[in-house]
Amino acid sequence: SKQTYGVTASRAAKLKSYAPTANFTATWKRSDALKVSMDSTNTTPIIPENFPVISNKVWQWDTWPLTGMNTKPITYKGWHVIMSLVAPRTIPYGDRHWVARIGYYYSRDGHNWKYGGQLMDEARGIGCMEWAGTAIKTGKNTVRQIYTTVGAKRGGSTCRTTPPFDVKQRLAISKGKIHADSKGVWFTGFTSHKIIAQPDGKFYQTQAQGIAPYDYAFRDPFMFRNPKDKKVYAVFEGNTGGVTGSHRCSSRDLGNLPPGHTVDPESTKFTGNIGLMVATNSALTKWKLLPPLLSANCVNRQTERPHVVIKNGLYYLFTISHKFTYAPGVTGPDGVYGFVGSSLRSDYQPMNGSGLVLGNPPEAPEQNYSHEVLPNLMVQSFIDQVPTANGPRFGGTLAPTLQLGIDGANSYLTRILPYGYIPAMAGN
Ligand code: FRU
Repeated sequence: SKQTYGVTASRAAKLKSYAPTANFTATWKRSDALKVSMDSTNTTPIIPENFPVISNKVWQWDTWPLTGMNTKPITYKGWHVIMSLVAPRTIPYGDRHWVARIGYYYSRDGHNWKYGGQLMDEARGIGCMEWAGTAIKTGKNTVRQIYTTVGAKRGGSTCRTTPPFDVKQRLAISKGKIHADSKGVWFTGFTSHKIIAQPDGKFYQTQAQGIAPYDYAFRDPFMFRNPKDKKVYAVFEGNTGGVTGSHRCSSRDLGNLPPGHTVDPESTKFTGNIGLMVATNSALTKWKLLPPLLSANCVNRQTERPHVVIKNGLYYLFTISHKFTYAPGVTGPDGVYGFVGSSLRSDYQPMNGSGLVLGNPPEAPEQNYSHEVLPNLMVQSFIDQVPTANGPRFGGTLAPTLQLGIDGANSYLTRILPYGYIPAMAGN
């Protein structure tokens, strides 16, 4: 049971809407974040410490199903397919980011996944790590993988194997073919890679503008065709352009703050945003950066893996965020946050008044992460770590999928589904 928030579906449909190219950025306000509260409708159920593991070979985290341009997961020749960031289980769990690669899994039922190996040949890649993105079947058996290429090879061929790692982030695309027979799925191609976006320093912070320890972000593209204008867009995680600390918290960033609430000057360094870019050719190799859709200035410095769900004519913008990335004076759990709008660029309002959709239980604050809300409102994520009497048990495997119900700006956890249940919504 919870109080419902004022933005009903009919009110959400009337929220101010702008052209996708317009210079309007909605804000997740400090006053919204102050409303974060947890109850049975938004608290992720506890995962038992004896959870099952999909692959003993690899740590598995950020995951995205093979979809069509309409964001719906699809099968290929009857196989369900997902991509995940993977790293060998032989390395310490915390080191996985520095050697992350995109791996693929397939199943007959959207549940019993078999690890198929790496999607792309790393020797032919541009960067040193592959971070999250989206995989879309764009032709009969053509798959385009848009992703984050991280770091640059030294002398064009070798990557650092010890810290400090180069975390330069650029968005890239590569194309290949999917194949399947009665035994499984495999891919060919993905040998040529094209950089399609880099931060401009104005809308999106560059690596040079980011000051440690608040590392910049320019990653996690989610690509889809907008049904309203039929153009192909990608949303991604960025930070507000400019040198860390140069942002001034505006009244639109802050909202109506309760009397006595102070804004620690350090908050100016927390400038997560959700970026937007539009494809300008049909091969999807040319893109134009547009102003961010939403900013979290003075609220949170990471709005990761943003994605869009279009439901009953409303646009839902979801993103994942962490407790440790909140600005001083505001807080919330690791989990998935959401905003509802009337079109792709609109005056997005936070779901449930605060933005919080599903957060980790206080007893297991790092239990789930990297949630993705699918068009059927199933939420898939991975198990990060589960506390046990002997310290944390690291997951690196898929968590139970959760079913959401949504009504306007209100969301409700309605059902716990099996571990890693990511069924396709359409065949082909
Ligand atoms: C979220 C994330 C993504 C990034 C990846 C790197 O879990 O931080 O933003 O693509 O993990 O491992």
